Amino acid sequence: MRAVLVANPKGGAGKTTLATNLSGYFANQKRSVTLCDLDRQQSALRWMAFRDPAMAPVSGFFAGNQMVANLPRESDWVVMDAPAGFQGFKLSDYLRVVDKVVVPLVPSVFDMAATEDFLNSIRHEMRGRKGVVGIVAMRVDPRTKAAGMLEEFLKHFDIPIITYLRNTQNYVNVAAGGLSVFDPPRGRHRRDLEQWEPLLDWLGN
Ligand SMILES: Nc1ncnc2c1ncn2[C@@H]1O[C@H](COP(=O)(O)OP(=O)(O)OP(=O)(O)O)[C@@H](O)[C@H]1O
Ligand SMILES: [Mg+2]
Repeated sequence: MRAVLVANPKGGAGKTTLATNLSGYFANQKRSVTLCDLDRQQSALRWMAFRDPAMAPVSGFFAGNQMVANLPRESDWVVMDAPAGFQGFKLSDYLRVVDKVVVPLVPSVFDMAATEDFLNSIRHEMRGRKGVVGIVAMRVDPRTKAAGMLEEFLKHFDIPIITYLRNTQNYVNVAAGGLSVFDPPRGRHRRDLEQWEPLLDWLGN
């Protein structure tokens, strides 16, 4: 089992979007994947409920009040969708058992400010474990001023930007059908799939 935690305390940063699409990717790679929903709002599980049974299967469970003892070790991959405000001892507990932490971050001053303490605390907790934490710049074109601002901000933390995902209704549309950009018809999402490649490589898949 390999486990990825998708987390950022800021609401709406793109955690569920990343977690559901990543689960869709592993499923389409014929890996067994469990999407572990840590959020009381259960958006990830709602996505699963919409999912067409003809699509590559994703298992799911709600882990809102659980600590990590109950991870589904039989899965090839466990993808954890953290809620907004996920921090403190619960965050520490999960950080101990995950292989990777993916932090979606929108380059706005509000999002960056809300994420600063979180990045400091995961950097502190993960010291000695290199290459475990990565940022996914959300809803941004890497050639823009906003992207430059994000890069500048991240220099303080020594955490790499793994990839940039553009702002597109594709993510909104696939989510509505319990799908990911990796489910057929994939041709429609060609540009998005290219943007995911650095993240999939970084996860070591
Ligand atoms: N790259 C993108 N382009 C366009 N829309 C996006 C993109 N990423 C996410 N969204 C949309 O932004 C909204 C918030 O995303 P999402 O629900 O994934 O964030 P979240 O971090 O899980 O939020 P919460 O903190 O409430 O759990 C959703 O409507 C989602 O469809
Ligand atoms: Mg969410």
